[in-house]
Amino acid sequence: MIMKLLTEGKTKKVFSTSKDDEVLLFFKDDITAFDGVKHDVLKGKGFLNASISAALFQVLESNGFKTHFVDFIPPNIIIAKKLQMIPLEVVGRNIVAGSLTKRIPLEPGIKLNSPICEFFLKDDNLHDPLINDEHICNVLQIVNHEEIEYMRQTVKKICKILDKYFNDRKITLVDFKIEYGRLDDQIYVGDELNGDSMRLWDADGKILDKDRYRKDLGDVIEGYIEMYRRIIGEEGLDEIFG
Ligand code: TMP
Ligand code: ASP
Repeated sequence: MIMKLLTEGKTKKVFSTSKDDEVLLFFKDDITAFDGVKHDVLKGKGFLNASISAALFQVLESNGFKTHFVDFIPPNIIIAKKLQMIPLEVVGRNIVAGSLTKRIPLEPGIKLNSPICEFFLKDDNLHDPLINDEHICNVLQIVNHEEIEYMRQTVKKICKILDKYFNDRKITLVDFKIEYGRLDDQIYVGDELNGDSMRLWDADGKILDKDRYRKDLGDVIEGYIEMYRRIIGEEGLDEIFG
């Protein structure tokens, strides 16, 4: 099978496969922040992120969500349905943190009454600005009103499902970002779901996610490994880090 590189992002490469309706996502060891301004390579990160993403997409699938997930090929590859990606970063929040504290005068760590959803335009040059329904449906016309409502409701449901999933593993889901894509007139959850795109705090408040990297808090891969252990266990860790 001759694979063609279709696109390369900051942390993933997307290849064609022998099937026209599927793509191969290769998770790189690269980590970036601040729209790529900060960049490093952390051995084993691609394995951790691909594995965690595969596990969480299977949780979503088993809860009835339509996702792009097809198969996981360890250590670094996910086979996914080929979607027409929608250029939005859709954020679900259970707890106040991150950019929300810059828009609303609330301290980080406060639990929200119910999950909220925010839309950001996926545009590194503009630093992914927060945008609203008017911008999305009427100005940019990226999706229609029915589709935006579907995305909003899905994110809020995912907030609740993953909140319980992580509570059972003694970690707190603070917030996360997902991206959607179209396939046959339907909207699917695409891209990835892992330590790069979620905030997860340990019971003692320890940060396990990419904020360790964004804020220079110390050993980033250690946080990702702890996250992996809680979600998956010990399987595969020795081969990669042993
Ligand atoms: P924020 O608080 O910075 O808006 O981030 C909200 C969530 O989105 C957080 O879990 C981290 C994730 N995120 C990404 O996945 N990519 C990004 O470029 C940014 C800024 C945040
Ligand atoms: N996704 C952005 C980057 O890779 C920023 C972030 O996650 O904070 O640069």
